[in-house]
Amino acid sequence: MAQPRILILGAPGAGKGTQSAKIIEEFDVDHITTGDALRSNKEMDISDMDTEYDTPGEYMDRGELVPDDVVNAIVDEALSQADGFVLDGYPRNLDQAEELEDMTDLNIVLYLDVTEEELVHRLTGRRLDPETGDIYHVEYNPPEDPEVEERLVQRDDDTEETVKERLSVFRENTEPVIEYYEDQGDLERVDGDQAPNEVWEDVKATIEDAA
Ligand code: AP5
Repeated sequence: MAQPRILILGAPGAGKGTQSAKIIEEFDVDHITTGDALRSNKEMDISDMDTEYDTPGEYMDRGELVPDDVVNAIVDEALSQADGFVLDGYPRNLDQAEELEDMTDLNIVLYLDVTEEELVHRLTGRRLDPETGDIYHVEYNPPEDPEVEERLVQRDDDTEETVKERLSVFRENTEPVIEYYEDQGDLERVDGDQAPNEVWEDVKATIEDAA
């Protein structure tokens, strides 16, 4: 395989960002992440698109999905500039999955399977380094450098209430996407409940097997 075109699926907190960081390093592909792209454009004025709220941030802080038209445009643009990629955070509903079929062909569809109790624990304990974008966890993966620890921040949507809403949006909208790829026989299920390095061993082996 030249540069692989990888889709990584999983619930909020399943470890998509953590594993994507390893994939881009190992396989030299671009990281296309709708969550990061939207966080960089939280205040963008989308009121001319006939949307319920005026900015992506208003959807995100409630744990709701940003309207498809906004997200589809971001992904289409990013994919047109990438040879190999890992796509993280999209598609999140069946309409987006159909759009994606018109945009590109995928080589691998990975699904990080994690229990709900573990997801809540991971999200509420997640911390980010605003300078590097590195992801940490207060218990599972704290930074060694006290200077880094000092500057860590929590994502606005990682509060317990918003996490509950995000998980419910996942069950309603994104679980059908997982079934859709499973029905096509394309889904590579990885046990995401393991420690990060064990998950990585399985992710890496799955990508290499598909090559
Ligand atoms: P987005 O940023 O995509 O968030 P998400 O899907 O909810 O996923 P997360 O980033 O929260 O989790 P992750 O799976 O990357 O886990 P991570 O590796 O950080 O989306 C945010 C919002 O943007 C949405 O709610 C929506 O509003 C909007 N949006 C985005 N895409 C959209 C779309 N397509 N359509 C419409 N709206 C869209 O890990 C989590 C924590 O666990 C970390 O602390 C990490 O250190 C730890 N951890 C990771 N792996 C392990 C492990 N194996 N063991 C123990 N701890 C681990």
